Amino acid sequence: MSHASRSVKTVFIKTYGCQMNERDSDAVAAMLCNRGYALADSERDADVILLNTCSVRDLAEQKALGKMGLLTRMKRRRPGLVLGFMGCMAQRLGPQLLERVPKADLVVGTQKLHRIPDHLDRLLANGRHPVTDVADEAGSENAICGHVAPQARPTAFVSIMQGCDMQCSFCIVPATRGTERSRSIDDILAEVRALVACGVKEVTLLGQIVTSYGRGQMPIVHGNSPFVQLLEAVNSVPGLERIRFMSAHPQGFRDDLIHCYGRLDKLCEHVHLPVQSGSDRILRAMRRTYTLDPYRRIVEKLRARVPDIAVSTDIIVGFPGETDADFAASVKLCKEMEYDNVFLFKYSNRSGTPAAALPGQLPAEEIVRRHHQLWKLTETHAAHRSSALVGRVLPVLAEGEPETKKVEGRLFGRTRCNRLVYFPGDASQRGQTLDIRITRAKPHTLYGEPDLPSAGH
Ligand code: SAH
Ligand code: F3S
Repeated sequence: MSHASRSVKTVFIKTYGCQMNERDSDAVAAMLCNRGYALADSERDADVILLNTCSVRDLAEQKALGKMGLLTRMKRRRPGLVLGFMGCMAQRLGPQLLERVPKADLVVGTQKLHRIPDHLDRLLANGRHPVTDVADEAGSENAICGHVAPQARPTAFVSIMQGCDMQCSFCIVPATRGTERSRSIDDILAEVRALVACGVKEVTLLGQIVTSYGRGQMPIVHGNSPFVQLLEAVNSVPGLERIRFMSAHPQGFRDDLIHCYGRLDKLCEHVHLPVQSGSDRILRAMRRTYTLDPYRRIVEKLRARVPDIAVSTDIIVGFPGETDADFAASVKLCKEMEYDNVFLFKYSNRSGTPAAALPGQLPAEEIVRRHHQLWKLTETHAAHRSSALVGRVLPVLAEGEPETKKVEGRLFGRTRCNRLVYFPGDASQRGQTLDIRITRAKPHTLYGEPDLPSAGH
């Protein structure tokens, strides 16, 4: 191609997995922009392509490996192309990834993301010397703080901690993300204030287990956990309108946190609280450290404080040893809770986790059958909860024009209860909170019209 001597190198990052990965990709992109790189719109015209990988389920790893296979073929035609893995699979497999994919140049683990600009500088200057960088690094949790073009969006993710000290028997995250490390309240506040100065109205505080934020590092004050202290501090930032967080763990969801709802005006009426199973026996085998009774009490207390609160959860079907009765207990729990949204996962065996070696691994077809059965039920609940909002006027933070299904003059945004809403409007309203009358509902989407003060009727 003719632009071989182009001086600014461009990078494309493709992200798999959870919100933490989205956040990490954005922070890495910001570091690269500061270093003089530009972001490519697509992989076709990028000098560097990074895959930010997920290891939570096998399928996510297979997707990234398949993608990298296609990219290495592209590299035959573009020999200067630099290809890298970052994130959880990079951390989990380390140098093995370079053995499996010899044409890749870079493998960067979850505690070394801030080193990516240096590694790319060197790779682009010296050509092929593949690099693996997956060691632990103290303080790396503080490196995830930059944002690309925050003024382009009224919502932002803020990483408040890294890692998880729980040992849920199915979960690879403690191995890929390391031990719990929290950022200071002051650092997080500085980031939130800077985002608000750029026009951000809503922040989602992210961590693998935010209810453990600051545990052992910061004191309890007047009965309030460090996480509650953080919520109070963020709630006091002028100009910010909304606060969300994910994910919480039932074990740390105490009354001090429950009492934040309705007390802190910016805290949205939505809680994502993963339960994983409706069977105490399975919860024990999962090493989830709680039983269903206290979990139910948390949800009851939340609903008593905020009757309209939206409750979502994660459930795994087909954990090793899950009997028909255990599965029926998950079905029963869903009926009882009538969740606004359930993220339903088919159990995926992750080697190295304690559950990987358990007896009673279920056949894939049975897991698929249970998944489908529970999915249909939880969709009817989502539909019911959604349609209950038809006719109401709700404040919706206009986020922008939908990227897919783009319709002229249509915006999307979210209610405080985290439902996606489409409504007529124009791009100049982005960042405004508008009163929208809900006219139609799908299980996970609402449609509405601006509620204009009517002329007398
Ligand atoms: N604490 C984190 C958990 C990350 S994994 C958070 O909620 O942000 C996200 C969800 O993936 C978990 O709650 C669990 O429901 C699901 N999950 C984790 N490991 C899994 C596995 N081996 N198979 C299937 N689902 C899994
Ligand atoms: Fe995984 Fe359990 Fe932590 S699901 S991220 S080990 S709370």
